[in-house]
Amino acid sequence: MNSPNSGPIRIHKPADFDGMRAAGRVVATILDELTECVQPNVTTAEIDDRVMELIAEHHVRSATIGYRGYKHATCISVNHVVCHGIPGPKRLRNGDILNIDVTVIVDGWYGDSSRMYVAGTPKRKADRLIKVTHDSLMQAISKIRPGATFGDIGAAIQTHAESRTMSVVSEFCGHGIGREFHLPPNVLHVGESGTGPVLREGMFFTVEPMINLGRPETKILHDNWTAVTRDRSLSAQFEHSIGVTPDGYEIFTLSPRGRFYPANWQPEVT
Ligand code: MF3
Ligand code: CO
Ligand code: CO
Repeated sequence: MNSPNSGPIRIHKPADFDGMRAAGRVVATILDELTECVQPNVTTAEIDDRVMELIAEHHVRSATIGYRGYKHATCISVNHVVCHGIPGPKRLRNGDILNIDVTVIVDGWYGDSSRMYVAGTPKRKADRLIKVTHDSLMQAISKIRPGATFGDIGAAIQTHAESRTMSVVSEFCGHGIGREFHLPPNVLHVGESGTGPVLREGMFFTVEPMINLGRPETKILHDNWTAVTRDRSLSAQFEHSIGVTPDGYEIFTLSPRGRFYPANWQPEVT
């Protein structure tokens, strides 16, 4: 998400957690079901077709089809694509890393999540980028509780990634979510702890850090969607939809099969 989102942060009721739980479970199940189809020689359009089928099987709706003129059920961002990659006829090659981002609407509630997948065997550098990106997300999530601040989230991501000589993309951010796709606040993936809005029970939002192996700068291609690293270095992203509970957080988009990370490969043991 990249457009500014200011205004009050919606506070949801305990019963609203059920709606987000249901939406989150569907999107996580769909992402689980993509594990087998991400392979060398598959096109990203074929993966999108599979997501269309799964969305129909689950009797839910895609939130991205028709969103600001977007026509697909996924964003698929391969290698140096940071986010908002458009599915198409390009075939995956051995070692390609890709983020698949899916958002569904279930009984009016939005579930938004993305994971990294690998076609075949990743190179060691790519493997490390994916691990650092996932760890930065989970570090940030561990800070979530009433009274913490959004700056705590950004700082956790930034500290984790930069201390491993990787960089955080600051042109795109997470967002409030609920009965709408993108709500206030902008959830920045950089920042200083103790700054920014205070987290309150009943807030729903995404955290979706994009981490680059090289420099943080991005540019948008002429299709007006695809964001790439300016230096063409590899980029990775993971996204969860989360609710603030009385004493911490609930991740709505956890994988029922424990596949969120690694999504479809075994990390190298080094
Ligand atoms: N799912 C993306 C997000 O995390 C938004 C994609 S909008 C689209 O906010 F139109 F590009 F699909
Ligand atoms: Co999102
Ligand atoms: Co998303």
